[in-house]
Amino acid sequence: MRPARALIDLDALRSNYRLARELGGGRKTLAAIKADAYGHGAVACARALQDEAADAFGVACIEEALELREAGITTPIVLLEGFFDADELPLIVQHDLWFAVAAPWQVDAVAAFQTTATLSIWLKLDSGMHRLGLSPADFRAAHARLCALPQVGPMVLMSHMARADELDSPRTREQAAIFAAAIDGLAGETSLCNSPALLGWPDVRSDWVRPGLMLYGANPLPVASMATERLRPVMTMESKIFAERWIEAGEPVGYGARFVAEERTRVGVVALGYADGYPQFAPNGTPVQIDGQPGRVIGRVSMDMLTVDLTDLPQAGIGSTVTLWGASPRLDVLAPLCGVSAYQLPCGVKRVPRRFLHA
Ligand SMILES: Cc1ncc(COP(=O)(O)O)c(C=O)c1O
Repeated sequence: MRPARALIDLDALRSNYRLARELGGGRKTLAAIKADAYGHGAVACARALQDEAADAFGVACIEEALELREAGITTPIVLLEGFFDADELPLIVQHDLWFAVAAPWQVDAVAAFQTTATLSIWLKLDSGMHRLGLSPADFRAAHARLCALPQVGPMVLMSHMARADELDSPRTREQAAIFAAAIDGLAGETSLCNSPALLGWPDVRSDWVRPGLMLYGANPLPVASMATERLRPVMTMESKIFAERWIEAGEPVGYGARFVAEERTRVGVVALGYADGYPQFAPNGTPVQIDGQPGRVIGRVSMDMLTVDLTDLPQAGIGSTVTLWGASPRLDVLAPLCGVSAYQLPCGVKRVPRRFLHA
């Protein structure tokens, strides 16, 4: 059997969730498990976080919510982008889902929807990201209109931070101030903080926090802190060496001869490539661990394989375990070296079987 696999440490996930809750001051903590829990497996992650009595889960669409409900997840689930079509509203009621209302047409659709159920709405303000959310000019009127509808229950007032990972940008405080002004005097709990806001902006808080990336153990900030040092990587991407050879100085390795040996070099071939989610353009020298020792990628990553330097690792060879990311190298260290983000890498994991630890 092909040895590539992704180990998912659910204890680490629970520990990161507890850290997020602590940083949020013990407030309600929605775990963002959209996109299959950022590639970690939404159902298994939801089950693990139910052990921590997670307050809610955040997903991108009703399909993701239904997968969780069908797996028996009873925790509240928020559709973070709301519905894409008013036709979804009956299903939302049937499965007791909470949902964002983030555009004027969604307000109209809710107003037109007849139901005896009580809808749980997260009303979203555009506080400056200019992607989703009602403008400050429309927000209060929408709030008043929805409050007056018999089918609408207590609302959560939310917004999303665009630049909380930039610790020297004034934008996060500006967005927080715009949010505070827009919701002033309105009834409803509030929700503002994603992972970078939780880790980087301790004085920006709300009733609900909404961590995503940090739950998976990656630091979204460009610097480490005492809090980020407590994050535990959840995914370990690993495979094994299944071929090796010596090449002479001056000989190339792989497509495009991107690596040319400066001295006699022992090359190991690892059963994992870009079709599994490893970055195709990881440069020569990208760190890996080989049987727990530091190693490096040499040559361009292929679809199903990549090549590593074994010259200084005489004990390593066929059957050696190669860690592409995990405790070392960490996702948040590897990703920038490859010109991608720590968000993108696990979301792109494909084909590799997942093995869940500490379920
Ligand atoms: C509305 C919303 N809240 C929270 C999150 C979680 O963000 P992060 O992964 O940066 O913590 C996301 C993710 O993009 C989101 O869209």
